[in-house]
Amino acid sequence: MDLTAEERAMLAGDLGPGVAKALEIVVALGRVFGAQGLVSVTSVQVAGVSYRNLGEAGLQFLTEWAAQGARARVPATLNPAGIDAAAWRELGFSEEFARRQMAVVEAYETLGIAATCTCTPYLVGNVPSFGDHIAWSESSAVSYANSVLGARTNREGGPSALAAAIAGRTAAYGFHLDQNRRADLRVVVRCPVTTLSDFGALGHLVGKHARDRVPFFEGLGECSSTELKALGAAMAASGAVALYHVDRVTPEAVRSGMLLPEHETLIVTDLRSAYASLNADATEIDLVWFGCPHAGLEEMAQLARLLEGRRVTAATWVTTARALRERAIEEGLVAAIEASGARVLADMCLVVAPMQELAFRTMATPSAKGASYVPSHAGLVVRFGTVQQCVEAAITGMWPT
Ligand code: F3S
Repeated sequence: MDLTAEERAMLAGDLGPGVAKALEIVVALGRVFGAQGLVSVTSVQVAGVSYRNLGEAGLQFLTEWAAQGARARVPATLNPAGIDAAAWRELGFSEEFARRQMAVVEAYETLGIAATCTCTPYLVGNVPSFGDHIAWSESSAVSYANSVLGARTNREGGPSALAAAIAGRTAAYGFHLDQNRRADLRVVVRCPVTTLSDFGALGHLVGKHARDRVPFFEGLGECSSTELKALGAAMAASGAVALYHVDRVTPEAVRSGMLLPEHETLIVTDLRSAYASLNADATEIDLVWFGCPHAGLEEMAQLARLLEGRRVTAATWVTTARALRERAIEEGLVAAIEASGARVLADMCLVVAPMQELAFRTMATPSAKGASYVPSHAGLVVRFGTVQQCVEAAITGMWPT
């Protein structure tokens, strides 16, 4: 692999053992994937935050790397943790988990990673420009950055993204290279895709079929960034799609030639099978979850409207980034949502939360990604449907028929 003099010096330990270790990881990955060299990154997003997944060994790994003087040399933000740092006690999470979770977040902060604790860093200031090389690891954020923003990232693992932050570089392979960004799966949509959950259902269906290929959507028409967020998150969950194009919508698809001449075509005529596969047979609903990926201000405004003058009977959680929660407070949205008894929570994701500490058995969500992961990761029986159906479930405690 061709390394610059500076990279060779970093690898040799001239900037300390922490930087050398970061270079070793980045270079090793590059060798595995046949990279010719490294590329500087402008932004990093690090997943692997929940103590539930990291455990003591992961916490120790971070602490030791920080003790070696390793620090991020480019702007870097953190994925959600397992708890809301302010509200964990009221929600019923244990002090023992909270203490360890805070230690993980502090270790990342020592390493120079901003404790944004969100999977939508692009809504809180970590917004790469078109063509930027970046190293992000949260799968839904990777999909959004590649597809909607036109930045360039592979689907990094937590340690490799952290290494890229400390090295300021990643290996130049995969989606960093022009030739790998063209689509090899044409998806022709021939059914209405109108609600947020429809976008998730479509993503669920296409992700399963595409696995790690690059889909090119035709027939979707105009899409909002919130709808694209749901589409990409679902494809990244049911498959491993890290980049997709939407004809005349996403930035690279406005040019011609992004669909490879040799491609497979998938025609989608209805979404019923996706809805069916994401729905289990739960009637009573204990918990309703909005904000997977983390909710933006528009989504919170919609919930505030739908909940106005009503009271929830099921626990109702809206997860978002802490900085967006602050803005939603200023705009009166948190007060409007919480007047119904629902909660607007920050920092956390239910998929990596220690949900077994709580007594919930069933959940409803309009997120296809959430509905894919919660049964296996949080052990709940899940209903998936529109935002309106989930609001009705929150009010009545029953899944609407
Ligand atoms: Fe974000 Fe967790 Fe959903 S990381 S995309 S809220 S599964």
